[in-house]
Formats: sequence, structure tokens, C-alpha cells
Amino acid sequence: MIDIHHHLLWDQDDGSTSLALSLEMAQMAAEDGITHIACTPHANSYYDYDPLSVTAKIEELQQLLRQRNIPVILGRGCDFHTSYDNIQLAHNDPTRFSLNSGGYLLVEIPDHALPPTLNEVFYQMQLDGVIPILTHPERNLTLQKDLPRLKEWLRSGVLVQVTAGSVTGRMGKTAQRMAHELLSKRWVHFLATDAHNVTSRPPRMREAMELVAEKYGSDYAHLLCVSNPLAAFMNKPMQPQLEPIDLYEDQAPRSWWRRLLGR
Ligand SMILES: [Fe+2]
Repeated sequence: MIDIHHHLLWDQDDGSTSLALSLEMAQMAAEDGITHIACTPHANSYYDYDPLSVTAKIEELQQLLRQRNIPVILGRGCDFHTSYDNIQLAHNDPTRFSLNSGGYLLVEIPDHALPPTLNEVFYQMQLDGVIPILTHPERNLTLQKDLPRLKEWLRSGVLVQVTAGSVTGRMGKTAQRMAHELLSKRWVHFLATDAHNVTSRPPRMREAMELVAEKYGSDYAHLLCVSNPLAAFMNKPMQPQLEPIDLYEDQAPRSWWRRLLGR
């Protein structure tokens, strides 16, 4: 499994608090079957994000993992918050925050309200050649009551990442209910741990993957935990997805010649 959202780096944000804990988290992830981790510290008004120092920390940790035979490949990403400064920086240099400087970018929303300019932010990112991955919409109180908003973003090409802990119920009943609603519609593209430590927010996704396989099929589980996140990690196009349910049905019917041409 490939984990594209993980606060593994020590003393970088509210994730790992020591190098020893980062090593413990990586070990736990490896034991769970995670082979790749994108280290994605927050970039917001509390936590500064400097790609060079983040990269240096990743290299240091990768070397220690190799020495300890912990079989995890690290990459760099960012838990990108949509502050004015971040948006300008990402516009000027889209690869500054993206996964391994490629074309996929995690976009974090708060757990309560939604930033009013998100539509424009997503649109501008796509114009800049970046595919936004909306992180854990199932945990957002506004989106929990406003699925059409999410539907609109999905239609415009935004991808969705759900937290593994939401699938298994660790993030509360409401998040779990919404996670399963999204999964049942195949509106999810990635599962990720969003791990912060080894206790309350652990780096585990196997249980969630197995649950998805059992309830929604092993093909879908493989897409969410292996194929799609690996494509994002490696900056490759994602393979064809399973048909989403109830995503385009209320759009205007295609004209006869579009149907004929399959467009
Ligand atoms: Fe996060």
C-alpha cells in the first residue's frame, strides 16, 4: 500500500514529535504493509513549509530506515492549506508543494467551514497543471451536509482522499457514515492514513483496505490503496477508474451525435 498523506517528519508540525517516534511510525507502517510514504507536513500560518529543509529531513530519515532495514520508500508532499500566501506561492511554483514535485497536490480543508474561494482555487490549480486532491471531505462538517458541493468539484476533476481511520470508525460515526456513502458511490480515489503518531492517529490502512474490499470489491480497494496512490506518488496518470454512481446522471443528456461518437 502507498500512503500519500502522513505527518511522519519530526518537529515539523503537529505530527511526530521526535526522530525516535518517526522511526517507530515508519516501522508500524511497514508492518501494516505500507511500502511508500509521502511525508506531507502542514503548510499554514502555524507551520512554515520550506521544501529544502523538508527534503533534507526526508533524506536523513530515509538513510536511517535503510540502516534499520525498514522497507519504506519516502517521498515529499505537503498538507496544503488554502491561505492567500500559499495560493500565490503555488501559482508561481506549482511543484513547490506537490507530491514529489509532480502534478498532484493535497488540499486540506478545515474540519468546520469551507474557504469561500475553493472553486476558484481548484480551477486555478488545474490551469497551472496541478490535479488537486481534496483531503478527508468526510470529516468536514459543512460537506457532510452538502454533498452537491463535493459532486460539483468531482465533476470538475478534483480527486478525493478519505482517511483510513474514517472508514473503520476511528474518526467518529458521522465521518464514518459519510466515508461509506462516498465509497458506495465510488467518489473516492485514495485512502491514506493522515498519521500523526502511533496511538490516536496511527499509520495503518490495512484494516480499512480490507473493509473496502469486503464491502465494495477488491478491485476498488486496490485502486484506492495501491494503483491510484502509486500513480500520484510516481507522477503518472491514473489508470481508468470504476464508473462512479450518481455523479453525472442529472446532467443534460448527450445529443445523438455525441452518443454516436462516444463523447
Ligand atoms: Fe494531514
